[in-house]
Amino acid sequence: MSSREGRLKVLIIGAGGMIGSKLARRIASDGVLAGQAVSRLDLVDIGLPSVPPGAEGLARALALDLSDEGVAERLVGDRPDVIFHLAAVVSGAAEADFELGYRVNLDATRALFEAIRRAHMAEGYCPRLVFTSSLAVYGAPLPELIPDDHIRAPHTSYGVQKAITELLLDDYTRRGFLDGIGLRLPTIVIRPGRPNAAASGFFSGILREPLAGQRSVLPVDETTRHWLASPRSAVGFLVHAAGLDGKRVGPRRTLTMPGVDCTVADQIAALGRRAGPEAVALIDRVPDPKIATIIGGWPRAFAPEAARCLGFTAETTVDELIDAYLEDDAPPA
Ligand SMILES: NC(=O)c1ccc[n+]([C@@H]2O[C@H](COP(=O)([O-])OP(=O)(O)OC[C@H]3O[C@@H](n4cnc5c(N)ncnc54)[C@H](O)[C@@H]3O)[C@@H](O)[C@H]2O)c1
Repeated sequence: MSSREGRLKVLIIGAGGMIGSKLARRIASDGVLAGQAVSRLDLVDIGLPSVPPGAEGLARALALDLSDEGVAERLVGDRPDVIFHLAAVVSGAAEADFELGYRVNLDATRALFEAIRRAHMAEGYCPRLVFTSSLAVYGAPLPELIPDDHIRAPHTSYGVQKAITELLLDDYTRRGFLDGIGLRLPTIVIRPGRPNAAASGFFSGILREPLAGQRSVLPVDETTRHWLASPRSAVGFLVHAAGLDGKRVGPRRTLTMPGVDCTVADQIAALGRRAGPEAVALIDRVPDPKIATIIGGWPRAFAPEAARCLGFTAETTVDELIDAYLEDDAPPA
């Protein structure tokens, strides 16, 4: 990463999304990233992302579709020092619409990498690029605890698109075109607001809706085990990744992030501890074989040693995930 006069230009693609909008607020409020003052914060999404309150002088919002011709060049034309690439068609939607998933998650990402490569060839440009990958790069059969060096073998189109991007990130970094860090995010719980099209949406829904006194559907068995972290931790991972020394990361540039190892039953027990049995009674068990099949092929728990050694941290209990939501996002009662 080479910033002019120690001041960083930062670009967030997917800045209107759940994680992107929180990341924008965090960077605007910190005013620094990777130990340097932020001089410009460009926020890009298909719909116009909102500028964090008080950041009007720093941030610029742009409504652009990364998969449109010329958009990647335009964004790279400003030579951002740090690029957070969060734009994605998420798991359920990428499975439902094959062409859209590949266009956005793979072709648009490659167009971004290529625009950066061309700028590198022209003038040695080499930004830090932080990419959000997913646990969906892994597929059954899987060990109970997945080590950092486990083979990527996705079972969904979304997982394939993320796995290919992880390989591209390694290669473009190895060739010196960009300085990439990929983060395999845990499933982010509790996701605020309305559910998105992710197959994993119920992991948040079974906590968020009952905490607000509303009914929620549980489409899978309570023994379902998964790996979770809060939106607050996701933003923490991204900010930490922006300032990491790439040499410490080594050639495998995507890291599995730490998270909470828990079952759906653990989630329900924590809900009961925080909000009582009446909240637990708001969960309706309605099995959905389609979701169960997608989730059934997903990994359950990890040993994310590389990320831990590099200083990434997250919650360790579901109770902490609920507390983070109540502090950061829960609508006033
Ligand atoms: N939330 C999770 O549990 C989770 C888990 C693993 C990985 N991730 C990854 O983290 C990233 C952010 O996730 P999120 O939960 O904030 O998702 P989100 O759906 O809330 O945000 C994604 C944003 O990308 C934007 N986008 C989609 N296509 C675009 C395009 N062509 N051009 C510009 N913008 C486009 C969408 O409009 C949306 O605002 C994604 O890459 C996702 O795959 C999320």
